[in-house]
Amino acid sequence: MVAIQFYAVPPNEPKQQRKMCSRNIKISVVLFLVLIPLITALPHNNHNLSKRSNFFDLECKGIFNKTMFFRLDRICEDCYQLFRETSIHRLCKKNCFDSKWFGECLKVLLIPSEEISKLQHFIKVINGSPISFPQSVPT
Ligand SMILES: *[C@@H]1O[C@H](CO)[C@@H](O)[C@H](O)[C@H]1NC(C)=O
Ligand SMILES: *[C@@H]1O[C@H](CO)[C@@H](O)[C@H](O)[C@H]1NC(C)=O
Repeated sequence: MVAIQFYAVPPNEPKQQRKMCSRNIKISVVLFLVLIPLITALPHNNHNLSKRSNFFDLECKGIFNKTMFFRLDRICEDCYQLFRETSIHRLCKKNCFDSKWFGECLKVLLIPSEEISKLQHFIKVINGSPISFPQSVPT
């Protein structure tokens, strides 16, 4: 009985539905107009963000060696290119490359273990503190 009442169509239903439908379209158009500038603004922000991140912004406390720094930075760039995810880019560089995300990026980028040992040394120099990202370098 309840179900029948629920599905019973009131006489004014089609008209109301049409009205609601056009209102939804209006809302969609407004959302669309608001979202477009936001979306187009996003890549700019990301771009500036990535350009700006440097030794000091990342709060690196070690010794700045351009070769080492850009090699580590490159890992995060490649990782970002793979996923196109801004948060990955940020997390990878977190704590001056000393995060589990950097380790995850090394894994997905299939960096060979000799290279990882080298990069671990780079982080030690650049970061100024022992690395803590999970590693399993075969000896
Ligand atoms: C990004 O950088 C460009 C050039 O350096 C600058 O013109 C623009 O205003 C910046 N955008 C933001 C959102 O900071
Ligand atoms: C920076 O690191 C590279 C690679 O380990 C090394 O060859 C170079 O001599 C270093 N440069 C400085 C200025 O320490």
